[in-house]
Amino acid sequence: MSRVIRSVVAAASTVAVAAVIRVPLQKRELSFEETLDSVNMGVQKWEARLAARGDDPVIIDDYMNAQYFGEIEVGTPGQKEMVVFDTGSSNLWVPNHKPFLSSHNIYDHSKSSTYKKNGTTFAIQYGSGPVSGVFSADDVAIGDLKLKDYTFAEVDKTSGLGIGYILGKFDGILGLGWDSISVGHVKTPMKALVESGKLPKPIFAFYLGNNQPGELLFGGVDPKHYSGDFSFVPLSSATYWQIKLDAVKLGSDSVSSVKSAIVDSGTSLLAGPKDDVAKIAAKLGAKSILGKEYVVDCSAKLPDLTFTLGGKDYTLSQPDLILQQSGSQCILGLTGIDVPAPRGPLWILGDVFMRKYYVQFDWGQQRLGFAKAVQAASEASVLMV
Ligand SMILES: *[C@@H]1O[C@H](CO)[C@@H](O)[C@H](O)[C@H]1NC(C)=O
Repeated sequence: MSRVIRSVVAAASTVAVAAVIRVPLQKRELSFEETLDSVNMGVQKWEARLAARGDDPVIIDDYMNAQYFGEIEVGTPGQKEMVVFDTGSSNLWVPNHKPFLSSHNIYDHSKSSTYKKNGTTFAIQYGSGPVSGVFSADDVAIGDLKLKDYTFAEVDKTSGLGIGYILGKFDGILGLGWDSISVGHVKTPMKALVESGKLPKPIFAFYLGNNQPGELLFGGVDPKHYSGDFSFVPLSSATYWQIKLDAVKLGSDSVSSVKSAIVDSGTSLLAGPKDDVAKIAAKLGAKSILGKEYVVDCSAKLPDLTFTLGGKDYTLSQPDLILQQSGSQCILGLTGIDVPAPRGPLWILGDVFMRKYYVQFDWGQQRLGFAKAVQAASEASVLMV
């Protein structure tokens, strides 16, 4: 991994003013049990979001098993924080207290010469308790780009995130969603990046490695990581990255009448309405354990699951749909979540989808672009070259 990342960093440091920003993403590999947990957590995260009343969105989710995260720096001199880049929320938050026994990087504003007090409180009720803190402004560096005086939340109570956060490998969240779901109506990170004038284009794109780390690019797309042309689909709503879904098919059978989907980098799975997913699972011969996760016999031959977006088919075949194997049992990367109106019902296209398809998030033209992801050669073969 280190060699691949070093070359990426070296390339980034040779470029000047309006250049893309490369953020290497680490990937945490999960065990079979952790994968099962991640299905649960994905469901709980959405249940927490949906429990939020009125227009007040829940953005502090349980990202216990979030697999991809990258480094930013907050303050002067820069304090390193590992954050999950999450297209399903719109705020930056970092911790200013270490939970007991945890090893998180914390942000200490007393050690920053560019810190500015804001003091507006930030409080969210999450599943097992509150998550709260205050807004503050400071310089935030993402790759080579510095946001001056950016307002974010510094969180002192994370008990609501439970043990998952204490043991987790990331410190905070950097939301890449739209203004309308920004808590406190603070400027979103992407808006601040665009307003800095330093991005060649107002877009970002994710490459999520399969058996290796990934890369998040701001300001452009990386031809190394996709093949063919992009197909674009206009956003139907600028809250989450939401688009019209034409159809969902298993083999050649239509399996959902739901007409909306979001692409969410902060969700590790594919998720659809519970009834649709139960129907699909039954057709796959999958068994539900604890009501949320589905397992199948690894030797079973699964039909393709296809999402039609903007008139084009995006197909996930057996290896794309399976997350983990334990003996002869494989976990399906598919779960049921009912998102109510007005935002739902919808399908959530998480990391399972984003590993197969390279997604360009076009903030300027309010659209999503999809191309086939090219998974780099495995680490071992790269190092042997
Ligand atoms: C705190 O931040 C919000 C959002 O950016 C802003 O509207 C407000 O004026 C700030 N308050 C102070 C005291 O700086």
